[in-house]
Amino acid sequence: MPGKSKSQTAQTTVTKITSTRTQIIRTLPALRRWREKFRGKSVALVPTMGALHDGHLTLVRTARRKCDRVVVSIFVNPTQFAPHEDLASYPRTWDADTAALKALGVDAIWAPNVATMYPDGFATKVTPGGPALAGLEDKFRPHFFGGVCTVVAKLLLQVQPDIATFGEKDYQQLKVVTAMARDLDIASRIVGVPTVREKDGLAMSSRNAYLTPDERAAAPTLQRVLKDCAAKLKKGATFAPVLIEGEAVIEQAGFAVDYLEARHAETLARMSSIKDGPVRLLVAAKIGRTRLIDNIAV
Ligand code: PAJ
Repeated sequence: MPGKSKSQTAQTTVTKITSTRTQIIRTLPALRRWREKFRGKSVALVPTMGALHDGHLTLVRTARRKCDRVVVSIFVNPTQFAPHEDLASYPRTWDADTAALKALGVDAIWAPNVATMYPDGFATKVTPGGPALAGLEDKFRPHFFGGVCTVVAKLLLQVQPDIATFGEKDYQQLKVVTAMARDLDIASRIVGVPTVREKDGLAMSSRNAYLTPDERAAAPTLQRVLKDCAAKLKKGATFAPVLIEGEAVIEQAGFAVDYLEARHAETLARMSSIKDGPVRLLVAAKIGRTRLIDNIAV
């Protein structure tokens, strides 16, 4: 090739291969055609709302290890936001997201628009019970799990993946989606992935971008308190005083606490002793205008 060195030619070729490998799919017929091509292969779905960080990318890596093909959905789902919540301002970083997914060799990005997911006349909603009524996130965001289950059911039925990966970061969501897939006989296996954290312990979240520098400095308190409480409960301390003290420490750091609770790790039922089964500590708290959640195993 005149005027081009060998390495430049190789570079051009590599760029071409990676840019054609990740298919961006925007319509249901195109998604069905893509899915048909891989009938004999195992397929993993990673549902996201974009604004991808290393937590999301870890779900993608797990999916990649477990299946032949990986599709990541990017859809900011309006039905899981209440009118006063951050739907309009939710971070949208399409170019960075697609670049990161291409670099990981994701096979397809399923990026429907709102009219594709919720066309005129859309009238059906999944109403989850069980873990969705545990009195945690549902108490503060009553619309949330109905919206999540409706969109996740649609995504699972659209893509028909063998597995779908969800983060433990949103622990109640993981349990709710697992119960929904079981209850509705959706064949996809729901796979939970441990929470990915910043170096200082803060759970990665798209909403961390909203934090001011002072709020960001205070934010790791959540995980620190969870760890403290877990250590005390493991040693046999009584639940209530440990949680009351933990809540006070979080408030001192500048948060308004929605809940700090110890729940059964599988059912999310209330419990008062580590003898009653595996325990998960869960917290939700607001700092400034940002609401953060976190959880750990005891
Ligand atoms: P989103 O907040 O974009 O999260 C997508 C997935 O990434 C979820 O399964 C979430 O638990 C996981 N995740 C987020 N932060 C993580 C972290 N630090 N470590 C590990 N996993 C993490 O959750 C949603 O979107 C939506 O509710 C969705 C399921 C896509 C339905 O609209």
